[in-house]
Amino acid sequence: LPAKGDGGPGTGGLTAVETARAKVNLALHVTGQRADGYHLLDSLVVFPDIGDVVSISRETQGLTVTGPYAHALGGGGEDDNLVVRAAKLLAEATGRDPRSISLALEKILPVASGIGGGSADAAATLRLLRREWALDISDATVQQLALQLGADVPMCLLSEPARVSGIGENIELIRNMPACGILLVNPGVGVSTPEVFRALRRRDNPPLPGIPVAGFAEFDALLGWLSQTRNDLEPAATGLAPEIAEVLSMLEGQEEAAFARMSGSGATCFALTRHRAEAEELAGRIAASHPHWWAAAGKLS
Ligand code: C5P
Repeated sequence: LPAKGDGGPGTGGLTAVETARAKVNLALHVTGQRADGYHLLDSLVVFPDIGDVVSISRETQGLTVTGPYAHALGGGGEDDNLVVRAAKLLAEATGRDPRSISLALEKILPVASGIGGGSADAAATLRLLRREWALDISDATVQQLALQLGADVPMCLLSEPARVSGIGENIELIRNMPACGILLVNPGVGVSTPEVFRALRRRDNPPLPGIPVAGFAEFDALLGWLSQTRNDLEPAATGLAPEIAEVLSMLEGQEEAAFARMSGSGATCFALTRHRAEAEELAGRIAASHPHWWAAAGKLS
């Protein structure tokens, strides 16, 4: 991935670039439901160096989508794309003309897959245009706009390890996370987030156990904490997409995988490895044994 804000050499007509990192819920507890139907969550999220790329294009008009999952965004037309919605919302809030800018999205993350791809794209667009337009607005204002675009957009705006609660609007950054490897695996089935929430049996689960003030410097400390947590959406998602169970049992059978779980509302699952090289090795093996699955390796945070 290019560094944040680095147009860099070889970007052609692209002069401003933002990475839209995948959001991974290492733990996700459903603790309640609001009167408007949205669910209250308590979640530990991380943002590995695996993601989409949003950039400003000087050569094209409107939004151009490329990349392995560009086809999956076809359906609703350009106005439904979260990149376009984010650009319009920020432009309206700050008196800019959204048509003055053309954007390019390289869609690398699978769509509707529990790793916040669309939310990450929207957040990257907000970061990119705030810088491009040199907007004099507060972080709090941008966070409020982000929340209007989706519950996961504020956390994606920060893209740092955090404990999030409410529907995603309360964000407490976590100081330390171990420099371990992470592998993301998606079996190629999309899962609808509202359907997963509707299929829940319980909405009153206990919150996450406490997180040490210093965070988790050691891999084993993180593993110990994770063993006391769950993803409460996993049983409901697995009921809708049984392939998730297949991914999890495959990951659990790998020697390098110290821990495996589903992220968000699925179907993407993750495995943690002590070192990044092990995640890369595993991704290579899975690409060979399951050519229809998506597998990507990175660093935890
Ligand atoms: O916020 P976002 O648009 O990503 O959420 C998609 C849908 O998922 C919501 O319309 C809602 O049905 C469900 N959802 C929920 N509780 C949350 C987040 C999402 O019920 N905390």
